[in-house]
Amino acid sequence: MPAIVVVGGQWGDEGKGRVIDLLAQKADIIARYSAGNNAGHTVINELGEFRLHLVPAGIFYPDKIGLIGNGLVVDPPVLLGEMGNLEARGVSLRGRLFLSDRAHVIMPWHRLIDNLDEKLRGKGAIGTTGRGVGPAFADKVARAGLRVTDLIDPQALRETLSFLVPYKNAVLEKLYGAEPLSLEQIYAEYADYGSRLAPFVTDINVLARDALARGQTLLLEGAQGSLLDLDAGTYPYVTSSVPASLAAGAAIGIGFGPTQISTVLGVYKAYTTRVGNGPMPTELLDETGVLLREGGPRPEYGATTGRPRRCGWFDAVVARYSARLNGLTAAALIRLDVLDRLPAIKVCTAYRIDGRSVETIPASTAALARAQPIYEELPGWQQDTSGVRRFQDLPPEARAYVQRIEDVLGAPVCLISVGPEREQAILAKPIV
Ligand code: IMO
Ligand code: MG
Repeated sequence: MPAIVVVGGQWGDEGKGRVIDLLAQKADIIARYSAGNNAGHTVINELGEFRLHLVPAGIFYPDKIGLIGNGLVVDPPVLLGEMGNLEARGVSLRGRLFLSDRAHVIMPWHRLIDNLDEKLRGKGAIGTTGRGVGPAFADKVARAGLRVTDLIDPQALRETLSFLVPYKNAVLEKLYGAEPLSLEQIYAEYADYGSRLAPFVTDINVLARDALARGQTLLLEGAQGSLLDLDAGTYPYVTSSVPASLAAGAAIGIGFGPTQISTVLGVYKAYTTRVGNGPMPTELLDETGVLLREGGPRPEYGATTGRPRRCGWFDAVVARYSARLNGLTAAALIRLDVLDRLPAIKVCTAYRIDGRSVETIPASTAALARAQPIYEELPGWQQDTSGVRRFQDLPPEARAYVQRIEDVLGAPVCLISVGPEREQAILAKPIV
């Protein structure tokens, strides 16, 4: 079985980490293919609770290989910190975690510029995670980035920095009125990171190629959600990853052809959440919104920044759109249990924009901000589903809700989660 891609179908935080953790049992290699430590993937297992930002969520199975692909931007102290934390908690990484030599490096100026730029934008701020991810991708595209291959080679590091530091200092000082950075200090610090990461660095394209040739299964872990995608999302309130987090980006972010992808699993929350700014037509600012945020066993606060997540009803316009963009072959529905107490559940099937009914996401973000959701109401089940392990044991209203979402997606809902623990999952249908 070749490559399986797991993508987020909404605005991120759909539960990709826990889906990866479950599917990893059946895979040989688990790989992150895009984004950076703006992602926050929570996994709960017998070792405890983990929040992963760069290391793939399949790393907890000791016989699996983890890859950090060329499509990522990697912040060395963050990665080393995450690796140190995993090692300290009994997850050994040597010989089974590999970092692409082509991945880009988040440098100190990227973090600074991320935050300075948000201030400069004023009311137009994106609400980024402030991790330097956007500026690092911007520099990748602008051909002013530093790659892992140069981080681990002291001579190449010095040469690249002797160009980049004065160049970025000019931007910091003249555009943002900030203090310049010291080349020598950065060199010393990053040469040290490079030497500590070097044993993990390899040409992961070759590793993936050989694994696929042997018939092994590659599980590709998406970050963010389709509506945060640079091309497809609610621009400019999107993230900056190149390649995209959409399923099509997985091939580029690891380095193989798209024909190797056999399965695309879209992950959806049973309702909608968003962190950061930008339109979200089904956002609820009333007590139902509070119930969605606070009512589940794990309240809705960002795993990376701790910000409260904006919550609202399931948006079928968003879901249809992301199902189509990713070419879903299967779907997972997460946190169904959070809806347990509600007497009625709404699904947004279309928007009313300037008096017209619209069934697709408009390109205009201003138009989307004016969109009024048109709802269909389904009966709630008002029963505890957290102990259910078989689809047929769900209350009939819950089954009807899942089937309604399946109709929207045009792909089978194979996996349903009813709580944060690994075993609180229902495998309704085979995924591959
Ligand atoms: P996971 O992988 C939810 C959002 C930020 C902001 C916008 C741009 O956990 O689903 P950035 O720092 O990327 O420049 O911020 O994107 N964002 C996410 N929201 N989940 C994520 O990742 C996100 N990664 C970025 O909140 O609105
Ligand atoms: Mg997250």
